Amino acid sequence: MESMFLTATFWGWCVTVELISFKGKYSFMMYLFLRPVSKSLSIVALIVGLSSCASKDVSEEPSVPSLVGKNTGYGETSINGPVPQNPEMRLSSDFSRMSATSISSGSRSRKLIALTFDDGPNPSHTPRLLDMLRRRNVKATFYVTGERAANHPDIIRRIVSEGHEIGNHTWTHPNLKKLSDDRVRRELNKTRDAIVNACGVQPRTMRPPYGSMYQKQREWVYREYGYPIVLWDVDPLDWKKPGPSVVAQRLISGTRNGSILLVHDLHGSSVDAMPQTIDTLLRKGYQFVTVSQLIAQKSVAAR
Ligand code: NI
Repeated sequence: MESMFLTATFWGWCVTVELISFKGKYSFMMYLFLRPVSKSLSIVALIVGLSSCASKDVSEEPSVPSLVGKNTGYGETSINGPVPQNPEMRLSSDFSRMSATSISSGSRSRKLIALTFDDGPNPSHTPRLLDMLRRRNVKATFYVTGERAANHPDIIRRIVSEGHEIGNHTWTHPNLKKLSDDRVRRELNKTRDAIVNACGVQPRTMRPPYGSMYQKQREWVYREYGYPIVLWDVDPLDWKKPGPSVVAQRLISGTRNGSILLVHDLHGSSVDAMPQTIDTLLRKGYQFVTVSQLIAQKSVAAR
């Protein structure tokens, strides 16, 4: 742009000088005719020069991030055009009258579904997932491990402050069938404490790692902690990393009324599958709710 500006300016001035020299050689009428032409050329040169200056300024602006305004530290996968929005779901999340100890889906009579994310939070993937959810007004449920919650209390706070729910997914992610009741209790207590320390909110449900838990264990945990044992009915096996479009297709084709979708925000490719998954399900008329809302609606439907 700079060389263009110099060329245009130089050319403009050359023409001007040339035209002025015409004045002496030719008639006064010729001069009167050519003077406006030379002026116009100078003005064109000036405009080209100014516009190149303006664009030069923008490109050379220092790349220091602003402390206010939009946070551009991480971005979501680009999407063309506007994205569909989940409606405001003002549903009760009180499931105290619910009788079942375990749940793997909600009521099949309404198009309500719950997105659940396990094994996080992850410092690079969970924040961009939260951006995707916020953009679509989708509230999800995060089954976090205590160890990660303790390491990333800021992300736990953000999850809660943006209206999502947090569930207990144990401290070290063990197979609970292999542990004594006391060990199970320690796993759940430590994780609950890490979550409460981070955000001040108690987890209301739990999910056993690998879905593995004896019926007897489920019963005493429900009795002692009030946690319904939350499983799922749509599993895209995203932890095997089959790629975002495969994960999205499996989630979309497996979803029915009341489905609980299992995804791992520990994996970048699973998070990459979310825009396509959520947008397609919203366009199919599904509405996203938290696990507690889904359970509460089921107990309402059952009464
Ligand atoms: Ni897990």
